[in-house]
Amino acid sequence: MSTAVVYCSQTGFTERYARWLADSVGCEPIPFAERGSAAVEAADTVVLLGWFHAGGLKGARWLRSLMDARPERRYVVVGVGAYPMPSDEWPRSETDAAFEHAFPHERYPHLARFYCQGGFDFDRLCAVDKLAMRAFFRMQAKAAKTDPRVAFALDAMREGFDGTRREYLEPVLDHLRG
Ligand SMILES: Cc1cc2nc3c(=O)[nH]c(=O)nc-3n(C[C@H](O)[C@H](O)[C@H](O)COP(=O)(O)O)c2cc1C
Repeated sequence: MSTAVVYCSQTGFTERYARWLADSVGCEPIPFAERGSAAVEAADTVVLLGWFHAGGLKGARWLRSLMDARPERRYVVVGVGAYPMPSDEWPRSETDAAFEHAFPHERYPHLARFYCQGGFDFDRLCAVDKLAMRAFFRMQAKAAKTDPRVAFALDAMREGFDGTRREYLEPVLDHLRG
């Protein structure tokens, strides 16, 4: 059984997860620009690692078209975002809603979905995202005064952080082995 690990990454956090996962699985990670490669065509299992962007998931459109064209294969998506890993304070429902938006269960019932916390590195963003984030910081500043969760997230993003941990991929590996 062969597995293709395809990733979309702007600032490197999703790429790091893709490298860890590919290393554990025993393959080379494939950047999104090379998603048409023979290794993806031939794989029995395709894993997409993409990052959350304004509630959407980078690479989702491609994965949907692949699942529609080749429904007999196994597909896995790993979403990487700024949210902490799910806990009582940061319920799973918030990342689940983003997955549901990208891949409605009704249409893609067999797609396995996993979330891994990424990080935030303002300096490595493209110019458009820098503008978007500056606007987002301004918008959130008011809410941060009354909502401690917003204040925490805003501080973390302003300072930059790296929330990646290799162990967050363990459920993905268990799934692939199973
Ligand atoms: C413009 C923009 C929008 C974002 N939107 C979300 C979001 O909706 N949900 C989320 O969890 N993270 C969001 N993030 C955070 C990224 O998903 C996070 O920084 C991720 O680790 C980036 O991955 P990369 O380093 O592979 O590019 C956003 C980041 C930017 C720059």
